[in-house]
Order: sequence, then C-alpha cells, then structure tokens
Amino acid sequence: MIGPLARPSSPVRSVIVSDQSERRMVLQFRNVVKKYKSERGPVTALDGVSIDVREGEFLTLVGPSGCGKSTLLNVLVGLELPTSGEIVLDGRNAVDRKAVGYVMQNDNLYPWRTLRENVEFPLELRGIAPCERGDISRRYLEKVRLADFADRYPYELSGGMRQRGNIVRALSFSPRILVMDEPFGPLDAQTRLLLQNLLLDLWAEERKTIIFITHDLHEAIALGDRVAVLTARPGRVKSIHTIDIPRPRDLRHLHENATYRSLLSRIGDELAEEIQVQAGGSR
Ligand SMILES: Nc1ncnc2c1ncn2[C@@H]1O[C@H](COP(=O)(O)OP(=O)(O)OP(=O)(O)O)[C@@H](O)[C@H]1O
Ligand SMILES: [Mg+2]
Repeated sequence: MIGPLARPSSPVRSVIVSDQSERRMVLQFRNVVKKYKSERGPVTALDGVSIDVREGEFLTLVGPSGCGKSTLLNVLVGLELPTSGEIVLDGRNAVDRKAVGYVMQNDNLYPWRTLRENVEFPLELRGIAPCERGDISRRYLEKVRLADFADRYPYELSGGMRQRGNIVRALSFSPRILVMDEPFGPLDAQTRLLLQNLLLDLWAEERKTIIFITHDLHEAIALGDRVAVLTARPGRVKSIHTIDIPRPRDLRHLHENATYRSLLSRIGDELAEEIQVQAGGSR
C-alpha cells in the first residue's frame, strides 16, 4: 500500500524559480574519462564528460543502456576513480562524500535492519547520538508516510515503500546533493507517479541539488530543470536541454502541454539516434 502523501493530480506546494542563470554553480564534471579493465580488454565507459550543475537544480540524465550513466555517479561519490578529468564541488576538486546522498540503481536497503535502522544507518556512521537519530528518522518516515512501518524489515515492505525508504535514507544526513540512479525503474506506472510527486514535494521543501538518472524520457522531462543526453558508449554529453515548463507541474496532465510535447519529440529523436548507435555496436 502506498500512503496518501503524493497526490498524482495535485501540484507540488512551492513554486520553484526556473531561471537557471541566477543560480550559483555548485558542481562541475570536467572532462571526466573512465576506462575499465576487463577480461575482454579495456572498456571506455566515459570519454570526456563535462557538465556544470547549479545549486538547487534538478538535473536529469538520459542515455542508452550501458553508456556510462551509473559510472558517472559512481565516480562522483568516489566508488570509482576517474581515469582522468576532475569533479569540482564548491570550487574544490576533492568531493566531500558527506555532501552527496546516493540512491543506487538497485534497491539496497539492508535486509537485516528495520526501515528505521536503515534510515539511521548513515547517521550512525557519522556519530550522531541515538536520540537525535531517532528524531531525524521519525521526521523523514512521517514525511513519506512510512511512520507506521518503521519497525518492519525490507522484506515486509512493497517495492514502492522500499524505494521511499531508500530516498529518505539518502536524505537523512542532510547531503547538499542527492544523486539517484533509476530510482523508480522497476515500479508500476501508478506507484511511479506517486513517488515522482513525492520527490518533487521533498525537493520543493529541501531545495537539494538533484542529479537523477532515468531510462524514461517522459520522467526526465517531467521532473527536470534540464535534461542532459549522453551519447552511446563511450558516454559524452550530446546535448543539454532546458525544460521551460513552469512549476508546479501537474505530472498527470503534462502530455497536454505543448512545450512538453515538443521537447519530448526533439529529445526523443536525439536519444533514439544514440540508442541505435549503441545497438549497432559502432562505438
Ligand atoms: N566494474 C566494471 N568493470 C568493467 N566494466 C564495467 C564496470 N562497470 C561498468 N562497466 C562497463 O561500463 C559501461 C558503462 O556501464 P554503466 O553501468 O555506467 O552504464 P549505464 O549507462 O548505467 O547503463 P544502464 O542504463 O543499463 O544502467 C558498460 O559497458 C559496462 O559494461
Ligand atoms: Mg546504470
């Protein structure tokens, strides 16, 4: 069961300023290259990715499967080292991992911990006292209407509940930047819509900078301030599109919006080109 917080037909509470040029640059990927070694020889996953991300921006990333999207986030959070290039956060090229919350591609709540213990895990790592941890996890679980499930284990939760748990676990330690890799991928359309609205609500409240990967171009346009399209592997930035659709956005009726339809067609053509290249294995 999914709680009633996210109302599919209702818009988010706050209006977000959409003029990107006013916002400070917070994070820069500068010419990031990542080559993996594998038994079949080297694989170049990323080949000179440069993107500037602004404070409080909701940036979405799309690209063919295998083009290096997860790799880019893994390099950002320090799970992988770039082969060359750099990532600059607040003008410094050492990314403080405490500044970044990561919702990974696979649902990865710890099965041996309850939902509450999962949400508190990053706080434990940071030495936050138990009573403060309890306050924080309670507040976040209430926000996503999961307070009644705090003492359940992940196997007792639905897929949508686990994903809400994943999101608040990544937010619990107050990171400045939230990165999300296909967070709603395996969910059905209705649950996905609920969680998209929920995420926009949280974003409107907390104004985190978000980098959000998705296979679903509708989702990328519906949520993002800008959509970056990556090329077939090796991944490079093919284009970046500003999504000039005012907020709050009514996600359920966005297909009626002419700007949305034109962006969907334009970006869809670009993406289709890259998917074809990747499928043909010509890179
Ligand atoms: N640890 C690794 N060792 C070797 N090759 C890897 C490793 N991780 C990823 N790759 C390769 O790097 C490329 C990019 O992988 P990545 O997971 O970043 O793609 P992706 O864009 O996230 O794909 P998807 O949309 O399917 O999740 C792929 O060719 C993949 O096989
Ligand atoms: Mg991936």
